Amino acid sequence: MDVKPKILVARRAPAAVLEKLSAHFDVDCHAGDAPLSPEELRARLQGKAGVYITGTERITAELLDACPALRAVCTMTVGYNHIDLAACTARRVLVSNTPDVLTETTADFGFALLMATARRMSEGERLLRDGGWKSWAWDFLAGSEVHGTTLGILGMGRIGQAIARRGRFGFRMKVIYHNRSPLPAGIEAELDARRVAKDELLRQADHLVLVLPYSAESHHCIAAAELALMKPTATLVNIARGGIVDEDALAAALRERRIAAAGLDVFEGEPRVNPALLTLPNVVLTPHIASATMPTRLAMAHLAADNLVAALTGAAPPTPLNP
Ligand code: DGY
Repeated sequence: MDVKPKILVARRAPAAVLEKLSAHFDVDCHAGDAPLSPEELRARLQGKAGVYITGTERITAELLDACPALRAVCTMTVGYNHIDLAACTARRVLVSNTPDVLTETTADFGFALLMATARRMSEGERLLRDGGWKSWAWDFLAGSEVHGTTLGILGMGRIGQAIARRGRFGFRMKVIYHNRSPLPAGIEAELDARRVAKDELLRQADHLVLVLPYSAESHHCIAAAELALMKPTATLVNIARGGIVDEDALAAALRERRIAAAGLDVFEGEPRVNPALLTLPNVVLTPHIASATMPTRLAMAHLAADNLVAALTGAAPPTPLNP
């Protein structure tokens, strides 16, 4: 009788996904919602050939060295800054993520956060619930315009392009972007988007959306100097990773109204939120839910499982990061 390879599912997962994985593997599932500590993860990974993770489990070179049986890491996220990809590649550990299936859903949320931020929706709801709505006034909770303004996108990958499409075709916005490499000419023409230097992006954007991958290079790439270039009427939206923004500098810029408002779905120390942000009225805060619709999360969960099954059965994973 064939012995099934052992895997660890490091977080609670949909029943259908566990069933799919159980058909191929001997599954050890950490069913809790609190992530395993690094020590627990290391202990649970002993003898495991594969691991199914989310963005809260870190795969480091030290962990890999402590878990020599590990041959495949699949993350149910598109971002993979929590995985040392080079260390995995050097040890012939196959890594996969879940791109594409969350692009449109995440872009919907990014645009919703832009709208909520520009139009002061959270501030209005808080005021109403607190009994502070007394009457109509011409300038009551007057926010920033969205349609016809300039949309700046930092990081023009799949999600950036999907947001640009919403801005260009839904709201007649002028789209500018900054990205290491230019978009193919056909896509630039379709979106009527112009690639500009980072400083120009910061100076010109009425609404700046951050959608770039997090890395040592992008760590705090929006800090005091960058915020100082932005218009005092501008809004900043971050749906990428919290570490891209220096949160203390952002809180100071918001407090002093050097920019108008911010919408943040991601935080540097999440789930802890910088206390300076919690007290400000002009910031909309959401708990890392940009891809959180049931169909999208199920699609991500299944794609991650398909990647793991393929990686450990000698087939080509659908979305590998180090093929
Ligand atoms: C991703 O997929 O990288 C998201 O941030 C996780 O929801």
